[in-house]
Amino acid sequence: MGYRYDDHDWALIGQLSRQWGLDLTAYKRTQIERRIATFLEREGFVGPAAFVQAVQQDPEVYRRFHSYLTIHVTEFFRDPEYWERFRQAVKSQGGEYWRIWSAGCSWGAEAVSVALLMEDLKLRYEILATDSDDLVLEKARQGEFPAADVDKIPQPYRSYLEAKGHHWAVKSSGSNAIRFVRHNLLTDPLPGEFDAILCRNLLIYFEREIRLQVLSRLSEALKNGGLLFLGATETFLEFADFGFQVVAPSLYQKVSASGRKSSRNS
Ligand SMILES: C[S@@+](CC[C@H](N)C(=O)[O-])C[C@H]1O[C@@H](n2cnc3c(N)ncnc32)[C@H](O)[C@@H]1O
Repeated sequence: MGYRYDDHDWALIGQLSRQWGLDLTAYKRTQIERRIATFLEREGFVGPAAFVQAVQQDPEVYRRFHSYLTIHVTEFFRDPEYWERFRQAVKSQGGEYWRIWSAGCSWGAEAVSVALLMEDLKLRYEILATDSDDLVLEKARQGEFPAADVDKIPQPYRSYLEAKGHHWAVKSSGSNAIRFVRHNLLTDPLPGEFDAILCRNLLIYFEREIRLQVLSRLSEALKNGGLLFLGATETFLEFADFGFQVVAPSLYQKVSASGRKSSRNS
């Protein structure tokens, strides 16, 4: 039988994580505890004390821990029909220049998808792609994408991506750029102000109250008229409280300053 964790153990791991800037209480409890237990077992630590000691001796252990806790599943143009509606909304707004934020970008498929879409629409753009996990960001910066995933990108988008050895890069027509930067959505200062924010398949891992706090922050980081593109299962009913109107499923537009500050008893 495996090691049995008690409250003291979870408190110890929570304290260690907080020291490294990760608040575990923001994430759904049963899910995060299961992943922690699996990680410790996989790495051969019997209980948290040995793990905490190992992190003190070698910070790389913590980087692996953080990377394991966060789920990195992603793909180019994930949920294509949602992307098609996002494309229509971008196209109908047009405009000179788009500042876009891909928050929780994993190894970069989402940021690259939006770049390919903008290339196809002949719109100028800059993309800030952020994640709290250093290890996936390293892959993203290198353009280390699985070839099988690249092969599935539909035309005409695929034609804007070129191979550079074993790496991939967007063939950009101008000074358009993607920057990959480490950023924790829960604790780091907000970058601003954006014409569109993609925050897809990340909110589902947070407890409800944290989810609402993040939505409030995302609203703050958007310009009026800006688009918020969430994951396919991440529709939220409180959109009007945060200054949004619905454009399409999982796609919102900011129409006024966000009024609501979420409260624990809501
Ligand atoms: C399931 S992936 C989603 C990737 C992409 N957005 C998509 O929909 O395909 C969630 C990503 O969010 C990141 N993440 C988790 N907690 C985060 C936080 N507090 N701040 C920023 N990124 C976070 C994870 O490291 C992971 O790469």
